Amino acid sequence: MKSIEWLGDQVRLIDQTKLPLEETYLETDDYTILADAIRTMKIRGAPAIGIAAAYGIALAALKFFGSDFQLFRSHVEHAINELSSTRPTAVNLFWSLQRMKNVLDTVNSVETARKKLISEALNIHREDEEMCRKIGEHGATLIEHNSTLLTHCNTGALATGGEGTAQSIITTAHRQGKSIKVYATETRPALQGARLTTWELLKNGIDVTLITDTMTAFLMKQRKIDLVVVGADRIASNGDVANKIGTYNLAVIAKHHGVPFYVAAPSSTIDSTTASGDSIPIEERSPDELMEGFGRRIAPEGIKVYSPAFDITPASFVTAIITEQGVHKPPFNFS
Ligand code: MRU
Repeated sequence: MKSIEWLGDQVRLIDQTKLPLEETYLETDDYTILADAIRTMKIRGAPAIGIAAAYGIALAALKFFGSDFQLFRSHVEHAINELSSTRPTAVNLFWSLQRMKNVLDTVNSVETARKKLISEALNIHREDEEMCRKIGEHGATLIEHNSTLLTHCNTGALATGGEGTAQSIITTAHRQGKSIKVYATETRPALQGARLTTWELLKNGIDVTLITDTMTAFLMKQRKIDLVVVGADRIASNGDVANKIGTYNLAVIAKHHGVPFYVAAPSSTIDSTTASGDSIPIEERSPDELMEGFGRRIAPEGIKVYSPAFDITPASFVTAIITEQGVHKPPFNFS
């Protein structure tokens, strides 16, 4: 399963809003359509957002006709601005766009810039695949035979350029022959857990059970969970973690019950320029995502809605952070 593919002059992505009922693909050579796909979560998950944005810049570079480098540069910078406005929390988006911007500083002809931008986007994708593999290997050392894990949102192949982050740990442990069970939270309101995580884990032959977000405290009280493993959208230099709304609830509940709480992410998710979670911008989603469900409106018309898409888990709740470099234990210092 590939979340996104470069086809030479266009990109192809699986529309995640339609999964698991329909496997529909979007193919486009237009970066504005790709920007819209990120905004509307047809493609989502921090690393996959970064990869998509890089390909968006490659598409923009291909859509410039002419040989004036300064005009080319402003055309590409316009695309960078447009793509950076899609989703504010996942730092991988800004990290990847900065890498594309850096390429522009190393060239002075349209033709070379175009080639180098495409190759940088492919590098970003390949590197993420490799980081996912290493996260899986490091993280699997923490998983014992016969354990039961709890995960939140979706951190698998759909969310990355490889096998995933938290989910790569799960699939690696499974591949190593460890007997594991997974509880996946449905992840209100966009239901990435119910729709995507269960679908991916089933495809990988992993024993997965769906629960609602509200069942987690009861399961921990029942001693059904050995450890929690989640992904991240941005990690501050002190180890505070921004991740899908509900992650902080899980961390608090895990601490109360003495259950280890692990976060898995590539180093592209670490924002060493942000000192703590207090400065991480939190995306607010449209009220419609809470007002509607089951294909129809479920809340009274005119109701006030507050819908932060992410929350911050303080570093003190995190047992370890797993990156491609290894297992980082507290106190965290990613500056
Ligand atoms: O709003 P989403 O679906 O993009 O949020 C995704 C998450 O919160 C994931 O846990 C995170 O990006 C890690 S993805 C490997």
